[in-house]
Amino acid sequence: MQTFPLFMSLQGRRVLVVGGTEAAARKVELLLSAGAQVTLIADTVVGEIAQLIDEARISWAGRAFYDEDLAGVSLVVVASDDEPLQARVSLAAQSRCLPVNVVDRPKLSSFIMPAIVDRAPITIAISTGGAAPALARRLRAEIERAMPAAIGRLARFAEVFRAQVRRTLEQPRARRRFWDRVFEGRIGEMALAGDEIGARRELIRLLDGARTEAPTVGMVHLVGAGPGDPDLLTMKAHRLLQRADVVVYDRLVSAEVLAMTRRDAERIYVGKRPGNHSLSQDEINARLVALARAGKSVVRLKGGDPFVFGRGGEEIEALAHAGIAVEVVPGVTAALGCAASAGIPLTHRDHAQTCVFVTGHLKDGSIDLDWQMLARPRQTIVIYMGGEQLQVIARQLVAHGLPASTPVALIENGTTDRERRVVGTLATIERQAARAHLQGPTLCMVGAVVGLAMAQAGAAKAGEFQFESRVGL
Ligand SMILES: C[S@@+](CC[C@H](N)C(=O)[O-])C[C@H]1O[C@@H](n2cnc3c(N)ncnc32)[C@H](O)[C@@H]1O
Repeated sequence: MQTFPLFMSLQGRRVLVVGGTEAAARKVELLLSAGAQVTLIADTVVGEIAQLIDEARISWAGRAFYDEDLAGVSLVVVASDDEPLQARVSLAAQSRCLPVNVVDRPKLSSFIMPAIVDRAPITIAISTGGAAPALARRLRAEIERAMPAAIGRLARFAEVFRAQVRRTLEQPRARRRFWDRVFEGRIGEMALAGDEIGARRELIRLLDGARTEAPTVGMVHLVGAGPGDPDLLTMKAHRLLQRADVVVYDRLVSAEVLAMTRRDAERIYVGKRPGNHSLSQDEINARLVALARAGKSVVRLKGGDPFVFGRGGEEIEALAHAGIAVEVVPGVTAALGCAASAGIPLTHRDHAQTCVFVTGHLKDGSIDLDWQMLARPRQTIVIYMGGEQLQVIARQLVAHGLPASTPVALIENGTTDRERRVVGTLATIERQAARAHLQGPTLCMVGAVVGLAMAQAGAAKAGEFQFESRVGL
């Protein structure tokens, strides 16, 4: 984060605004709506400010700025076009450790004023760290559209019961579950619709029930995190991440996806690296069982899809054996994500009637695939975890009949901003991969469809070294 978001109380505090421009008028309105006492310094002011002065809503000093004006002030805003003045006020404020914002001059500002969606008491502030204020305004418009105007009413309704719910349900988890039910169900709808009496009656009934409810046994949701791009999460995965008590995640889960988790959920890393298992599968299974038995809502987050080379089956078996309820939420598997990102059609009427997914990494570390079956013509082969075995794979496919000129793509960190691709042929790919030093998770795709995608992208011929970022194949 380039700037730290926080909300500051300005009720009854003095704020100094320097400048009498239109921009100053906008800032003054905002500051007044937050309860600030505004003093404005400017020789001349625009009409809107003059009106505020006439109505005695702000005090005005019609003169130049002096450093002494900063005494007793909590915040400073400069909305003047006079650049030397902007610099002078900024310096004077910062030397007194006073937060200062100079409109459209991020370098002179110690804080920025975000775009705001105001649904009091709910306030949403949006910042692009000064990079693109126009984008922040667009986001604000989208949020304004998506957010019911009455959402503030719902927040005020909840506030009335906050202390009572806290006293009745001592466990934070029980409270969270209670409020989830309130906001997502009928009670929330009634409060939003303005039926406050009905909503109160229902809430009290729900609270009575929650108090006497037996402690629940938790549940495990086996959730596919997709290949890395958070936009590829399913809506269900997103919802579960927002509600989880604990998220148990793998090395393949990207930081961007993990960031979708509820902020105060516990996060447990059980990542495995090839040849360096930090937790054994049995230990992971035992951990999941223990967490669910403690009544937690557990999301077991796995890269791609849990059932595609993900050992999801083994985890389900262990949980079922322990009597724990499990739900599986599919994810976009790496093959589909990488194919889409690289523009490689996995099947094609003319070039590939079948597509097989295989793993290049076997239990005992050796590779033992059905080469005869893999080397069939008109087939796309997708190899997961094939990086270390690339040499064996390429040679065996050629030995079993595939032309050495068959196109091959290696896609590292597919669908993320770090995506890299190496494209070549069975004859060249091993050398190319060594040069590219691929370190992240890498998928290998073999077949005519790879060449087709390259030709369509107007890229270099297969066989030439090609090593690039995610933009264009
Ligand atoms: C243990 S498997 C897990 C596969 C996962 N369950 C899925 O459905 O994608 C790990 C392998 O998936 C592939 N993989 C996963 N994410 C990837 C990504 N973003 N880009 C390229 N390959 C990826 C790599 O071959 C990696 O070695």
